[in-house]
Amino acid sequence: MHYILAAAFCCLVFLACQPGADQSDMEPFTREVDSLLAQMTLEEKVGQLNMYNGTWEFTGPVPADESNQKKAEMIKNGQVGAMLNVLTAEGIRAAQQLAVENSRLGIPLMFGYDVIHGYKTMFPIPLAQAASWDTAMARRSSQIAAREMTAAGLHWAFGPMLDVAPDGRWGRIMESAGEDPLLNAVFGWAWIEGLQGDDLSDLHTAAACAKHFAAYGFAEAGLDYFTVDISDQTLYNVALPPFKMAVESGVASVMNAFNEINGIPATGHKKLQRDILKGEWNFPGVVLSDWASINELITHGYSADRREAAIAAITAGSDVDMESRIYEEQLPELVRSGVVDEALLDDAVRRVLTLKFKLGLFDDPYRYSDAQREQETLLAAEHLTAAREVGAASIVLLRNEGNLLPLSATTKRIAVIGQLANSKDVVLGSWRAQADADSGVSILEGIRDAVATGSTVEFAQGYNLVEGRRSFIYDLNLVEGDRSGFPEAIRLAAQSDVVIMVIGEDCYQTGEGRSQVDIGLKGNQSELVNEILKVNQNVVAVLMNGRPLAIPEIAGSVPAILETWYLGSEMGHAVADVIFGNVNPSGKLPVSFPHHTGQEPFYYYKKNSGRPVPNAFDAGMVFWAHYTDSSNEAVFPFGFGLSYSSFAYDEPEFSVENSEVNVSVTVTNTSEVAGIETVQVYIRDIAASETQPVRRLVDFKRVALAGGESRQVRFTLTADQLGYYLSSGQFITESGVFEIFVGGNVRDTRSGRVEVIFD
Ligand code: NOJ
Repeated sequence: MHYILAAAFCCLVFLACQPGADQSDMEPFTREVDSLLAQMTLEEKVGQLNMYNGTWEFTGPVPADESNQKKAEMIKNGQVGAMLNVLTAEGIRAAQQLAVENSRLGIPLMFGYDVIHGYKTMFPIPLAQAASWDTAMARRSSQIAAREMTAAGLHWAFGPMLDVAPDGRWGRIMESAGEDPLLNAVFGWAWIEGLQGDDLSDLHTAAACAKHFAAYGFAEAGLDYFTVDISDQTLYNVALPPFKMAVESGVASVMNAFNEINGIPATGHKKLQRDILKGEWNFPGVVLSDWASINELITHGYSADRREAAIAAITAGSDVDMESRIYEEQLPELVRSGVVDEALLDDAVRRVLTLKFKLGLFDDPYRYSDAQREQETLLAAEHLTAAREVGAASIVLLRNEGNLLPLSATTKRIAVIGQLANSKDVVLGSWRAQADADSGVSILEGIRDAVATGSTVEFAQGYNLVEGRRSFIYDLNLVEGDRSGFPEAIRLAAQSDVVIMVIGEDCYQTGEGRSQVDIGLKGNQSELVNEILKVNQNVVAVLMNGRPLAIPEIAGSVPAILETWYLGSEMGHAVADVIFGNVNPSGKLPVSFPHHTGQEPFYYYKKNSGRPVPNAFDAGMVFWAHYTDSSNEAVFPFGFGLSYSSFAYDEPEFSVENSEVNVSVTVTNTSEVAGIETVQVYIRDIAASETQPVRRLVDFKRVALAGGESRQVRFTLTADQLGYYLSSGQFITESGVFEIFVGGNVRDTRSGRVEVIFD
């Protein structure tokens, strides 16, 4: 399946430069929308572009003058088109009633929410799901998220996030599919398919929202909300392709971004929104501003005041105003005076109304408000089972010296050490929608549930990472220098057969507004690991984190390491499934793990430069692209992940036919254990009109192999995969020599060169 998606991705990349035909005639509900539009006053039209926040949950700064009374009056007057953060089937019914039963035209509201990796049942964070390299798993998770959220009255998910994230310091990397554009594109496709299904009017599907358009993941130094200054080459080849694919997948909406891009804030970026997204790509859906981002056009220093901000945003193609309250205030007069063409307003309103028709809200505005369905659906047993399976598939085995893993369930004395091991809350991850606090299965619980009678599992907290309040909206109090738990942990480790050492980050060290200058382990976690290793060498490190970590010390000293991210409601069980061998790990890293934070932004698709590091580097020579105090390699490279099986690659074969490259490689499971290997193909265009990266992932396939089994795996690389975007935005294919790499991660590959001639 993945190669089909990969091919589709490349095809879409190619198509991105083709001007699209006008699709407006092909949109359904044109007649219904036009007839409604004809009845609307200017204020009512603007009202449809107005998105208000519910009052009991906040995910951004709230205007101080807010009063529920006023909000209700606005809804009754038809001056609000959609809401976010209004919750429960009954709560949404009540808000819907205000609009439908009181406003002149009775146009229903849409209700949106940040459903990022589940609604009540939490699935692995998106970064973890991408580590499965299994888009079917991702689709299943968002299908269930859609079932739950629609049962709770909601029908618009503000996800998936498709921001390629090359910098581990950026807290929102946890919401992405990592550093690679192809992974973000194919996972985005799967999440959208899962949420939207084939039919938005199906009671169990929701409108998706591809966000944040565009390049939000390139914030300078990984600082959330900060300036983005990237080349057009990076914009076209890295940042935009996942969004292009989302549009082709039929995503219902797109959210723009907080950041500026080379001097123009995304919300006011006409070229991006009006020309590329709605023009070249022919996107027929709704473009939503991010929270107050129209107002932030002023803060950016782009618009002088709210009037100018309104003009810039509507002209650029931002249809819906989320919580700036600028459209409601400015647009009626701007349209009346002819400063803003009414056709722009009508286009935006049409998009909103069309989506409401597609969702079936005009047939029955209360169709998603069924309290009984809500009660039956949330946390259904099969949802938890799925969360456990997706969880186990997202785990990456990073090291397994002496085959320490899997452990036998009859291991007599197991020590579980680490504050994070005992948390039923951290497991849920950041952006956990409506998951109840402390509702997940902790790693300690998961291990206790998995061991045989006669085994003992004892716990010691060891380190103290976080103290006091833990919350989505407040910074954490990270603790340094508390060694009070060391003696007990060391004593327990010394008398145990094996130590499961859970280390990493609190989930609220990641997510929106949670950038870090240091992506190493906080507090004295590394120090404790060293102390434990002195008394017991049988240590399994279980990493919990939402970004790549710089942990060279752990990587070299702890014999077994599992990257387990935040896996959601069933985390403890999923981790135990892998630790005790009920599931053979098959995940691969969607992000590179560096030696030091100072290497960030650290991603595999770097350019060669004029002075790449040669062998002379080993001899200590200076004048090459290297650091004097660190390797510039990854500790764990992109695409890396071990298994309880072992796989061997034969020499791949390459041939060229009709300007396409055929790749064939035989992969053998050299162990007795059945397992899954993800075979990856990268290319390098050796000489190009604009220089190309040293590797670029173009395709991958997950291959299940029984013990001892061999399989020939084939790929065909088409012109769409071999070509690239020029800085002008034009897609080209250039004849010449390509190096093709095949392997189980970006570093350990076998390669060959081919010459491809394009007509
Ligand atoms: C701001 C975030 O950037 C966006 O992703 C989210 O959907 C909105 N807040 C609404 O909560």
